Formats: sequence, structure tokens, C-alpha cells
Amino acid sequence: MPTKSKSAGKLISFEGSEGSGKSTQIARLAAHLQKAGREVVATREPGGTEIGEQIRNIIVHNSKGDEMCPETELLLFTAARAQVVREVIAPALRRGAVVLSDRYLDSSTVYQGIARNLAPGPVSAINRFAVGDVMPNLTIVIDVPTEVSLARIHQRASDLPDRMERENITFYTKVREGYLLLAKEWPQRVMVVDGTLPSDIIDRKIWTEVQKRLG
Ligand code: TYD
Repeated sequence: MPTKSKSAGKLISFEGSEGSGKSTQIARLAAHLQKAGREVVATREPGGTEIGEQIRNIIVHNSKGDEMCPETELLLFTAARAQVVREVIAPALRRGAVVLSDRYLDSSTVYQGIARNLAPGPVSAINRFAVGDVMPNLTIVIDVPTEVSLARIHQRASDLPDRMERENITFYTKVREGYLLLAKEWPQRVMVVDGTLPSDIIDRKIWTEVQKRLG
């Protein structure tokens, strides 16, 4: 578990729907932090470990995926999370690194809890069991209108949309609204950035906030 000493690292999670531009902003923030002399560890969910990548394939690319029930989906995502926390995130925080996570526990709260309608109590309890006390110091939600997000998914050069990307507009509207709701519920931890702004401006807003938090 991360120590509470002055040299303890920081965990920053990035959230938002598909096509919100998370990966571009993670790369930019990593560059700022490295320039400032911080060790940066970037990881992604589901994945970030070998076990997690295998779980990701089951969830996202499995040909039998359409038969997967929401409960199984939740348990698989959180299993991948439990692994990345213990294998990558907690050790990096103990070293004093800044960990940038492309998705974290809020993805389960929003996608499985809100969009797939699983009861919030069990989702929260399972999430907490998976992460222990490794909670994000800051969560950055990159918010884009649902239509923009769907259009970006379809524009992507990669081949066919995966299982999650085949969901409809109602699902993605719930995802978007879910994140905005979370930000209202946890204003100290969750920052929302308008993902339709030019990339440089988003970058500046995020870097300003991170500098404030890191001191
Ligand atoms: P990925 O291809 O990594 O998408 P992205 O680039 O948008 O992050 O696939 C992750 C998909 O899994 C994405 O649709 C969000 C979804 N997801 C959940 O539904 N619950 C979760 O807990 C996590 C981590 C991801």
C-alpha cells in the first residue's frame, strides 16, 4: 500500500467515453511531469499487466462476448484492476512515482453500474475490494458530447468496432451522464475538462491543476 510520507507518489486517473482523447492527454501530461523531474508510470485498464491483457481480450474481443452478462463483465474488469494495483500501481506509488492510469475504478461505477444498471452498492463494494486503499488523488474526466464520441469511434482507422464500441447512443449517453454525476458527487477528486476544446488548451488546464495538486 502507498505510504503516507511526503515522498509518497500520486495516482491520477483519466476517464471519459471512447474517443474522448484520453491517450493524447496522458502522453502530454507524462511529458510535462518527466520534464519536471518526476518518475512517471503510465498504465491502462483493462490491461497494464499480462493477466490484465488476457482479461481484456476476454471482455473486449471474445467472439462469445455477446453472451457475457453484466455481472461477469464487472468481475472481470475488477479482477484486472486488482492485479494492476498490486503489480504496478502500489509499488510505483511507494517509490514516489506519479502513476497515470488510463481508466480506473470509476469506469466500473459508470459503465457497469450506471450504463449496465447493476446495483450501485455491490459495484462500489467490489471496486473497493479490488483497489484496497489505492484511491486516485485526482481523476480527470474528459467530457465530449455523445455524438462526438460515437463519430470518433467510427472514424478510427482500426478495423471493426469491439464489443464495447458496438453499444448504442443510449448506452453512451448514460456513460457521459454518469461521469458528470460522479464529478458532482466527488468535486474534490474529480475534475471535468471539456474535450471539445483544442488539445493545447485541454493540456494547459490539466497541467495547471496537476501542478497545484503536486505542489
Ligand atoms: P479500450 O479499448 O481500452 O478503450 P478506451 O480506449 O476507450 O479506454 O476498452 C476499454 C473498454 O472497456 C471501454 O469501452 C470502457 C470499458 N470499461 C468498462 O466498461 N468498465 C471498466 O471498468 C473499464 C476499465 C473499462
